[in-house]
Amino acid sequence: MITTPATVATQPIAGQKPGTSGLRKKTPVFMGRHYLENFTQAIFDVVGARDQNGVGKTFVLGGDGRYFNDRAAQVILRMAAANGAARVIVGQGAVLSTPAASHLIRLNKTDGGIIMSASHNPGGPTEDFGVKFNMPNGGPAPEGVTEAMYQRTTEITEYKILEAQDVDLNTVGRHYLGGMIVDVVDPVADYADLMETLFDFPALRALFKGGFRMRMDSMCAVTGPYAVEILECRLGATPGTVTHATPLPDFGGMHPDPNPTWAHELMAEMMGADAPDFGAASDGDGDRNMVVGRGIYVSPSDSLAVLAANAHLAPGYAHGLAGVARSMPTSAAADRVADALGIAKFETPTGWKFFGNLLDAGKVTLCGEESFGTGSDHVREKDGLWAVLLWLNILAVRKQSVADILRDHWLTYGRNYYSRHDFEAIATDKADAMMAALRASLPGLPGQGIEGMAITAADDFAYTDPIDGSVSTRQGVRILFEDGSRIVMRLSGTGTEGATLRVYLERYTPGPDGLDHDPQAALAPVIRAAQTLARLAEFTGRSTPDVVT
Ligand code: G1P
Ligand code: ZN
Repeated sequence: MITTPATVATQPIAGQKPGTSGLRKKTPVFMGRHYLENFTQAIFDVVGARDQNGVGKTFVLGGDGRYFNDRAAQVILRMAAANGAARVIVGQGAVLSTPAASHLIRLNKTDGGIIMSASHNPGGPTEDFGVKFNMPNGGPAPEGVTEAMYQRTTEITEYKILEAQDVDLNTVGRHYLGGMIVDVVDPVADYADLMETLFDFPALRALFKGGFRMRMDSMCAVTGPYAVEILECRLGATPGTVTHATPLPDFGGMHPDPNPTWAHELMAEMMGADAPDFGAASDGDGDRNMVVGRGIYVSPSDSLAVLAANAHLAPGYAHGLAGVARSMPTSAAADRVADALGIAKFETPTGWKFFGNLLDAGKVTLCGEESFGTGSDHVREKDGLWAVLLWLNILAVRKQSVADILRDHWLTYGRNYYSRHDFEAIATDKADAMMAALRASLPGLPGQGIEGMAITAADDFAYTDPIDGSVSTRQGVRILFEDGSRIVMRLSGTGTEGATLRVYLERYTPGPDGLDHDPQAALAPVIRAAQTLARLAEFTGRSTPDVVT
């Protein structure tokens, strides 16, 4: 094999700024000349492929299998070798779910990892691609690190790459690329073993043996093989329980985002006459989840709260929780559970990277986001199948339906009616102008009334990390009302086309009456207030959301 290290002259490419979760762009942009190479070199320049003593580091590499995943992996490997890395652990076929990658980084105590994914965004030649770096703790690089990478892309003049043939990433075992070791591993086995340490697999096997029926929609994305191995092979769920189980480079044309809009096949089945007991779906890279009971949808904010209240029923959490963290736009349902349990609660900006320090410091055990993300301290990413298994464990112990568990929960804690309205592909200048006007109006809002509700506070969320003191400002506009209702508005940091406005709506009902309304009806005044306060139609010409979750 020819292996000559080469230094290639390049120049900065504008816009290589990582967003909420790594650098995401349209696939043709990523496939453009020097694009992937520049960003990969910026990663190695910032984190170093060798340590201070010149000893090569070890990294994990894998992706969600989307279009360009295989080619990108070969480029990243050649660049890792040319930059002096000693070893890269790669999932077979260059595939790893995001939580499995996080686990492999931790299990093998590596110096971090590179994940190729645009998460829940569609994949294909004209869709989305992405790259992100995860730290030695297994979690996404914090803002200081991603900012340094971005800076590096603005001044880059050359990158290093080995001239070599492709590594055979389809064959498990040890390979070499120049002087660098490439260990190709089974992407599923270690992750499935980890799940077995957290959950009562014998009880889950008994549940399925007793006739419990489930539908898992893997949406032609990365969790297919993981779900088949765990649910069907290890737990004995009926073969075929997992649908869309074969990962495809374009996700079969599906939009692999597990929400009621995009996982409509699952929703239709779960709301239908012969619905199984439990339904779930996962996203492109396997970190998101949606859970559905027979005839009842579980909002992600409620899911986090139910998991927090019941986690002790699973062996991995039998000793209770240190604390619970949620992103600011996530409903306060989990806070009520934390208060009742007498454990710590934290409110962080949007994005899993903000949970890392709290998890590392042992301050929290469970974390969650309203965007279909839940996870725990077992890895440093959100974890779709983990959430599904924790729900299954709870169902196995409580022997109640999802609907009964949810109803019990609301009777105990009250219900935080919640919804998120997304307005996609708004012209960036219009969205920016709207947010600027809204921000400017905030000081005048407290004391005013709208839709019969009094505004008590209005601000732009800022967060000081309790562990390292770092400050993140402008994390989303919050408008709070006297009755506990809340509006949050922010622009997405993961989109690749124009701007996406996210409007988060919440209203609390203590119960026992009024717990069974349709969320959109219960939230109607809050929705109207949000649109009026933001002057949404005036700035964007829009008033109907593209996606409602
Ligand atoms: C979205 C979600 C956020 C999540 C992120 C990555 O980011 O809102 O909660 O952490 O995807 O999955 P956004 O597009 O809102 O910036
Ligand atoms: Zn994802």
